[in-house]
Amino acid sequence: PDVRLWGGRFADGPAQALEKLSASVHFDWRLAPYDIAGSRAHARVLHTAGLLTADELSRMTEGLDRLEADVADGSFTGTVADEDVHTALERGLIERLGPDLGGKLRAGRSRNDQVATLFRMYLRDHARIIGGLIADLQAALIGLAEGNPGVAMPGRTHLQHAQPVLFAHHVLAHVQALSRDAQRLRQWDERAAVSPYGSGALAGSSLGLDPEAVAADLGFEGGSAANSIDGTASRDFVAEFAFITAMIGVDLSRIAEEVIIWNTKEFSFVTLHDAFSTGSSIMPQKKNPDIAELARGKSGRLIGNLTGLLATLKALPLAYNRDLQEDKEPVFDSCDQLEILLPAFTGMMATLTVNRERMAELAPAGFSLATDVAEWLVKRGVPFRVAHEVAGECVKVCEAEGIELEDLTDEQFAKISPHLTPDVRGVLNVPGALAARDGRGGTAPSAVAVQLAEAKEALARQ
Ligand code: ARG
Repeated sequence: PDVRLWGGRFADGPAQALEKLSASVHFDWRLAPYDIAGSRAHARVLHTAGLLTADELSRMTEGLDRLEADVADGSFTGTVADEDVHTALERGLIERLGPDLGGKLRAGRSRNDQVATLFRMYLRDHARIIGGLIADLQAALIGLAEGNPGVAMPGRTHLQHAQPVLFAHHVLAHVQALSRDAQRLRQWDERAAVSPYGSGALAGSSLGLDPEAVAADLGFEGGSAANSIDGTASRDFVAEFAFITAMIGVDLSRIAEEVIIWNTKEFSFVTLHDAFSTGSSIMPQKKNPDIAELARGKSGRLIGNLTGLLATLKALPLAYNRDLQEDKEPVFDSCDQLEILLPAFTGMMATLTVNRERMAELAPAGFSLATDVAEWLVKRGVPFRVAHEVAGECVKVCEAEGIELEDLTDEQFAKISPHLTPDVRGVLNVPGALAARDGRGGTAPSAVAVQLAEAKEALARQ
């Protein structure tokens, strides 16, 4: 029998080449459980509208239960001839209930409103999964910050030594970015919680079905689509989801790049756990940060998924066009990649060890306390413009002599500027420089303790 949902007006079957092009069942099969949930809800509104008797509804529901079990255990699957998951599941239902009852379910719905609804359901579930995995990473980073209290490191701008900061301060900066990503997922979900079911192909249904009841049944807190054309044709919910996953990828890539640099011989700031690093097939000594590199690489792929999707949507006229079948693979891929990457990435961050002595030793290097000299002068009434010059002169002398700021003699200080009395040395130490920056968000141990407490509290509420 012809499984196509649209064979009536055609004299000939589809060419094989068309079938091959048209088929999406190999990638949209993952929507099957959502399709069946949608069918259950749809059967109920057909009954409410008087289009299915109570007996038909209960047989239909029972048939859908059986189909669901057969899909779950793999005894029923779609084929290329089925075209897509919706067609395959209608065939499955008819095989179980016969064409008279099985053929009734399609009334008042279209694959256009179905697929828009199911895709939202799928992405909402995966937003929750990815949100949970991000929370795990945040917890690992919070643990890393908490496990290394008071450890100073060189803070950098332009990758050059800038000012000393606490390692925990630096790590907690990444936690902030991740918590915004998690928030983006939650806020996206609020917008995505609108059900297109009942929009039909584009114009709505003449059968008196209740889209709000279906929406409630399927857990769409925002109710049903306010406009059936928008319900079937809009995909900004997909694009926005793809942006959030790309942003997560980019945020991970920034942590990854630092881990890769920190893990070099030259930096030697961190050591990766054996279980979360890889070796070389030729160089026996190698221990590589592959997880971080894959994170960096996959971020490109996630950006590509977003870009490709936006290109597909650009200039697409209303309402549904078959182009929209191209919306699923990239975003399914973004989910898959993050769900594989995040657990490994979290494991890497949770198990790496920090070379505290090395970090602390380098914290004051590169004249990173020059700003402290300038600010010390400002506190003594010297205009910052002059103070900046004077501190810069100190650096120049040090560079010429190959010494550090604290090695300058009283005479050298006095020669550079009469304002530089010997007690300037009081600020030429890392603990002092850190402790002085005790305003909100600063790098002082007291301020970082507040950040840590707030990050833990926010994560618990997240
Ligand atoms: N498989 C399609 C998609 O993913 C849904 C089917 C709509 N097909 C159609 N000819 N109207 O968008």
